[in-house]
Amino acid sequence: MTKNPMISGDHFRLGTFSTNCSSGMTPTKIAERWDNSWDNNLTLAQMLDDAGIDFMLPIARWIGYGGETDFHGGVLETMTWAAGLLASTKNIAVFATIHTAANHPAVVAKQIATIDQIGHGRAGLNIVAGWNKPEYEALGLSLPDDHETRYAYAQEWFDLIRKLWASDTHFDWDGKYFKAKKIKGNPAPVRGSVPIINAAGSPQGRDFATDNANFLFTPAIDLERSKAEILELKAQAQAKGRKVDVLTFSHVICRPTREEAEAFLKHTAIDNTDTAAVDNLVNLQFAHAHSFPHDLLAQIKHLFAMGHGGFPLVGTPDDVAEGILKLHKTGFAGTTLSFVDYVAEFPYFRDTVLPKLEAAGIR
Ligand SMILES: Cc1cc2nc3c(=O)[nH]c(=O)nc-3n(C[C@H](O)[C@H](O)[C@H](O)COP(=O)(O)O)c2cc1C
Repeated sequence: MTKNPMISGDHFRLGTFSTNCSSGMTPTKIAERWDNSWDNNLTLAQMLDDAGIDFMLPIARWIGYGGETDFHGGVLETMTWAAGLLASTKNIAVFATIHTAANHPAVVAKQIATIDQIGHGRAGLNIVAGWNKPEYEALGLSLPDDHETRYAYAQEWFDLIRKLWASDTHFDWDGKYFKAKKIKGNPAPVRGSVPIINAAGSPQGRDFATDNANFLFTPAIDLERSKAEILELKAQAQAKGRKVDVLTFSHVICRPTREEAEAFLKHTAIDNTDTAAVDNLVNLQFAHAHSFPHDLLAQIKHLFAMGHGGFPLVGTPDDVAEGILKLHKTGFAGTTLSFVDYVAEFPYFRDTVLPKLEAAGIR
């Protein structure tokens, strides 16, 4: 069994997000936007692994957001993506992102157990209870309007997975959403379970996360708000006898000078932004999900154009390191990083920012 960097050590966790999706986290029209091919994912994963990055988190997406680039119109499926990456790396944790309604829990229980063996204990699971209505319709599924039903379904889905992992005898399941006869899960994941992520924003979702997840993802739009939010979430988990760490996601534009970083930001996210895709993305978020504070719309639109709503880490290596230290100080346990072109831009971050984080004692 290998260590899973998500559950060993107490350093500030760093990962990547959305490398399996076309254009990554940036709905831009520029030619250098991210090409999410398997070969690029593999090259990046091995680079991240060698650099000691903790995890890779994919987005599960079934239709794109339209616009000129059809942002996220091309997506590598996350379970098979994770299997391939776990087989090709040594230390990094790799998550699969799974929609509860589109994937039967008995199948997912076995898939996760399988990829956890492939990675010798480095797999993880990000549970999505659903929010993107047109995507559900594309799959012929109906997204329940109320969050109570979405998360009640997710709870039974995960309860069945956990029982499949824990039980060494056949059992029957007679639930509200699932029925099973003489079922048994074998094998279980290497450690009996895997690190669980949930990224809910609603009160019902946060109940689910503090009941079931090890990590809750939340956007970092206003760090003062985040500070209070993190304390509240941790207290909520603690009251249930659980520990939940809060993670966020950030977008990096790191250049030798601030001028260069700002110029690239303007080039990608202002002069060449895929406006229709950004509008569609933000409208859908606001219609069906509770993740982003609705009173900060203008700021949020710009952040979506830059990095899908991620915390901006834009500037020199010192600026970027300082931004990450701020997230740490706010109480986040880690962040994902995205780049317009991950393979081209990660090495500069690795060589200039990682040593600063080590010197500051958070890695
Ligand atoms: C870091 C992060 C990762 C997410 N990954 C996905 C994903 O891959 N697919 C998806 O449909 N939704 C994804 N979501 C959406 C959440 O799972 C959740 O549905 C959304 O934040 C709405 O929260 P709510 O259900 O509590 O309203 C993600 C959200 C965040 C912040």
